Amino acid sequence: MASSVTSYFQARYSFVFMSIFIHTRSHLKSAFLGEKIGLHVNVPVTQIRFSRKTVQIKESRIGKVPITVPSNVTLTMDGKNLKVKGPLGELAITYPPEVIVEKQESGQLRVRKAVETKRANEMHGLFRTLTDNMVIGVSKGFEKKLQVVGVGYRAAVEGNELVLNLGFSHPVKMEIPDYLKVKVEENTMITVSGFDKHAIGQFAADIKKWRPPEPYKGKGIRYADEIVRLKEGKAGKKK
Ligand SMILES: *[C@@H]1O[C@H](CO)[C@@H](O)[C@H](O)[C@H]1NC(C)=O
Repeated sequence: MASSVTSYFQARYSFVFMSIFIHTRSHLKSAFLGEKIGLHVNVPVTQIRFSRKTVQIKESRIGKVPITVPSNVTLTMDGKNLKVKGPLGELAITYPPEVIVEKQESGQLRVRKAVETKRANEMHGLFRTLTDNMVIGVSKGFEKKLQVVGVGYRAAVEGNELVLNLGFSHPVKMEIPDYLKVKVEENTMITVSGFDKHAIGQFAADIKKWRPPEPYKGKGIRYADEIVRLKEGKAGKKK
């Protein structure tokens, strides 16, 4: 009995000790550990899960996880510039000095830190996300849906324009850039899609800006996945 308690504590203790050790080492030599993590790619799924969990504990970032590049995407690297081309479009990015991007033999992309600074940590996470979004964008694409709410409010695509009737004296006309697609269903559901996630988000935000949901009845344009918090309209209170 006593011995099993001891071994339990020993096990616990060595586990804790190991995590501290790994943590300290990752702090000092995180690029080296990154190499090690890169080697986990071909191990069974259960082990990948485990090593990912460890990565999060050590790095608290997904920056280390390589980006899988589908076969319909071609990469062109030139120093700090990366071009990503896929069936849906082409995007380019220039990396800051703190970040290094590498194509691995497996075809995967890896984003690394060039230095160990706070700014490099931030850039690392950001540029890994941006790179991932580019690869997904040109191969599968992104979309954002908006919903027009309000009696008499409606939307339509006419030629290369999105036409919004939002209770103003004139309809709002927005030119649709050629790198975006806009679709309207049931006069109220707008879908913006394309290969450039940032451009989609920007165009959707520009649409919404014409009539953000008002807080009493929720009339206006909202993102389809947005929860609009309504205020109680209290009688006698000015809004
Ligand atoms: C490109 O390849 C990916 C992965 O195989 C696939 O999911 C995607 O649909 C492909 N894109 C096109 C437009 O065929």
